[in-house]
Amino acid sequence: MSDTITVFDKLVPNQALNNDLYADPPTDYFPALFRTISEASGLRAPREEFLLEESSLRSLEDMASNPVNLRLFELLAKLVRARSVLEIGSFVGLSAMTLARAVGESGRVTTIEKFPHFAEIAVRNFQANGLADRIELRLGDASEVIPTLPSDQTFDLIFIDGNKERYAEYFLALEPRLQPGGLFVVDDVLFHGDALNTVSQTEKGAGARKMLETAAAAKSYLRLLLPVGNGILLLFKP
Ligand SMILES: C[S@@+](CC[C@H](N)C(=O)[O-])C[C@H]1O[C@@H](n2cnc3c(N)ncnc32)[C@H](O)[C@@H]1O
Repeated sequence: MSDTITVFDKLVPNQALNNDLYADPPTDYFPALFRTISEASGLRAPREEFLLEESSLRSLEDMASNPVNLRLFELLAKLVRARSVLEIGSFVGLSAMTLARAVGESGRVTTIEKFPHFAEIAVRNFQANGLADRIELRLGDASEVIPTLPSDQTFDLIFIDGNKERYAEYFLALEPRLQPGGLFVVDDVLFHGDALNTVSQTEKGAGARKMLETAAAAKSYLRLLLPVGNGILLLFKP
């Protein structure tokens, strides 16, 4: 039957069945969607929300979480009442600062960044926004930094947003450090569609795919891959 509706026909807002009443010019669709989300959610642009030094190498739009994802992470941190957060991949510190605000004055965020150029900007941003006392930046490759974290340090929320090739490795290494009632948030797990390919086109896509297979096997967690942005994977530890 040609008009059979499948289970995947209404996953994201711009699919035909979810926007068949949209009547304005197609080129206005995404700006209107973003504006509507922003207004309904009271989102502010990161450059208004924070005093932000940026990188001359990569733009915020290219590398940092967008305001919708940032609000989601803030909301999730509040919902799990996170006091202690770990992030892999600081870039210029936008998500770390968002999470630092979410954990409150007595909370702590540890963020790991491999590249000194980004790390130095991030630290200056933490200072400029009065958040330096809540955020510790650990410079280095996450695979080398993770084993050096204090052996008794645990987290309520772990945000994995660094090199996709090692996502599954980070998840497995950090599992014992996530508190019961805590949440893993793993960004970009669809990796531009590469994680859906039968044969991965890139090493990053293969890494994202491996993370998804690892999540599939992690049956003790309540899991959801949100079809938002580049794919956001949530794993809640009961
Ligand atoms: C997508 S950006 C992070 C964006 C940031 N979390 C945000 O939402 O604003 C990924 C970051 O991971 C860093 N990175 C890449 N490989 C890494 C590694 N092996 N260890 C730690 N950080 C790494 C990159 O330099 C980059 O700054």
